[in-house]
Amino acid sequence: MVTIIASTNRPGSSTLKMAKYYQQKLGEKGVEANLLSLGQLPANLLQTDLYGKRSAEFSEIQEIVTQTDKFLFIIPEYNGSYPGVLKVFIDACSFPDSFYDKKAALVGVSSGKYGNIRGIDHFTGVCHYVHLNVMPLKLHIAAIHKEFDADGKLINADTLKFTDEQIDKFIAF
Ligand SMILES: Cc1cc2nc3c(=O)[nH]c(=O)nc-3n(C[C@H](O)[C@H](O)[C@H](O)COP(=O)(O)O)c2cc1C
Repeated sequence: MVTIIASTNRPGSSTLKMAKYYQQKLGEKGVEANLLSLGQLPANLLQTDLYGKRSAEFSEIQEIVTQTDKFLFIIPEYNGSYPGVLKVFIDACSFPDSFYDKKAALVGVSSGKYGNIRGIDHFTGVCHYVHLNVMPLKLHIAAIHKEFDADGKLINADTLKFTDEQIDKFIAF
């Protein structure tokens, strides 16, 4: 099973728009992907699902993670790295079985110039720690607010080309 993780809980995020774009493109190429937004996490996850606790609400999310063998993380740049809620999510998931020996592709997005290069590097370190194999082609999409039209479609030719290449490689990975 393939799951796209929109790695923020910020309402109205560009990350979720990008995740929906990847889901649609994967669908067009014959791959059905789940979409998990970190906006779906239980609001009180810090109290209910860290350090051995497990809530009924998070159990459903854990089940999706458990069933997934390929993840595609869309990760916004927050204060020069990946969002804290993404680390909380990883820490809340069962260890080591959630991610061990599975596969992931990473996409960084930012409103600034760098497309979350540093945050993707930081998160790659976490992936390696949990034995989640990261696909070498990672994308960094800067100035994300200039990438979509009013219908949420990507408009930049380079971005269309590189996302398409990454999606093909992800399917083959
Ligand atoms: C807490 C926070 C910190 C941010 N820090 C950065 C940053 O360090 N560099 C940057 O280019 N954009 C930064 N941004 C802007 C995001 O890159 C921008 O909101 C972009 O649309 C991707 O995030 P989104 O998915 O939340 O929309 C920050 C946004 C938030 C909410």
